Amino acid sequence: MALILNGKEVADTLKQKIAQEVEQMVAAGHRAPHLVAILVGNDGGSQTYVGAKEKACHEVGFGGTVIRYDETITEEQLLAKIAEINADPEIDGLIVQLPLPKHINETKITHAILPQKDVDGFHDVNMGQLAKGNDGIVSATPLGITLILQHYNIETAGKHVVVIGRSNIVGRPISILLSNPGPVGNATVTVCHSRTQNLSHFTLQADIIVAAIGKPGFVTGDMVKEGAVVIDVGTTRIDDATKKAGWRLSGDVDFASVEPKASAITPVPGGVGPMTITALLNNTLKARKAQLK
Ligand code: GUN
Repeated sequence: MALILNGKEVADTLKQKIAQEVEQMVAAGHRAPHLVAILVGNDGGSQTYVGAKEKACHEVGFGGTVIRYDETITEEQLLAKIAEINADPEIDGLIVQLPLPKHINETKITHAILPQKDVDGFHDVNMGQLAKGNDGIVSATPLGITLILQHYNIETAGKHVVVIGRSNIVGRPISILLSNPGPVGNATVTVCHSRTQNLSHFTLQADIIVAAIGKPGFVTGDMVKEGAVVIDVGTTRIDDATKKAGWRLSGDVDFASVEPKASAITPVPGGVGPMTITALLNNTLKARKAQLK
C-alpha cells in the first residue's frame, strides 16, 4: 500500500504560511502582493485554472486580478497590455494563460513579460537561471513537485529519477531542478520522451518517476519498480457521463495497477494540481519581497 501524497493538504498548509507572511508584510506598512492573470478566449480548462488561481490569491490576502479578452484580440494589443503591466509598480506577478489562439505567438508573449514579474518562470532568463543553478523564478508545476517531495521528506539525493516528458513547462525544468544541487535535488535524472526506445527499461530502474506526458493511464504497474515514488503530473479531461460536469480528470498514471507497487504516489486530482497553484503564490510572494529588498 502506497503512501498517498496529499497535495491538497500540503498546499493548504503552505497557503496558511503564505497568508501569515502577507499579514506581517501589511502590518509593517507594505502593500500585499498582487498577481494579474490574462486569459484569452473561453477554453474550459483555462477558465477553471485561472479561476482557481484568482481564488487562491484572495485566500492568502494577495490582490488577484483576471483580465479577460475575446480570442479575436491581436498580438499587438496583448503586447501593449503586457507592457502596461510591466511598468505598473503595483503589480508583482503576471501570467498569460496558455494555450493562446493560433494567431498569437506564445514565445513572443512569454518573452514580453519582465523576468522579475514572470511568476510562471517561462521566460528564457528564468529558465536560464534554473539551468545554471542560480536563484530565479522556477515554474510553478516543477516547484510544486519539489515542495510536495520536501513536505514528505522524500530523499532525492543520489536517487535515480526518471522523468517522462520533455515539455518546457514540466519535463525539462523538473529534470534540471532535481539534478541541481539543493535540498530537493542532487538526483541522477534520466529524461524519457516520445522517441525513447524501450521506455520500461528506464522506468523499471527508477526510484522516482515523474510522469508528465498528458496521456491518461500511460504508466502501468508493470513499468514500475517495487517501492518507487510516483509523481503524476497528468491532468487530461476525459468524458465521464457519471459526473455532473460530464468529465473527470485523468492522470498519466494508471493508479489501480501502480499504487500497489509504489511506496508513495500522488493522486489525480488532489496531488500535483493544488501544489502548482501554491507554488505560483510562492513565486508571487518572492517577486514582491524582491522589491522590498
Ligand atoms: N497552461 C497550462 N499550465 C499553465 C501554467 O502553469 N501557466 C500558464 N500561464 N498557462 C498554463
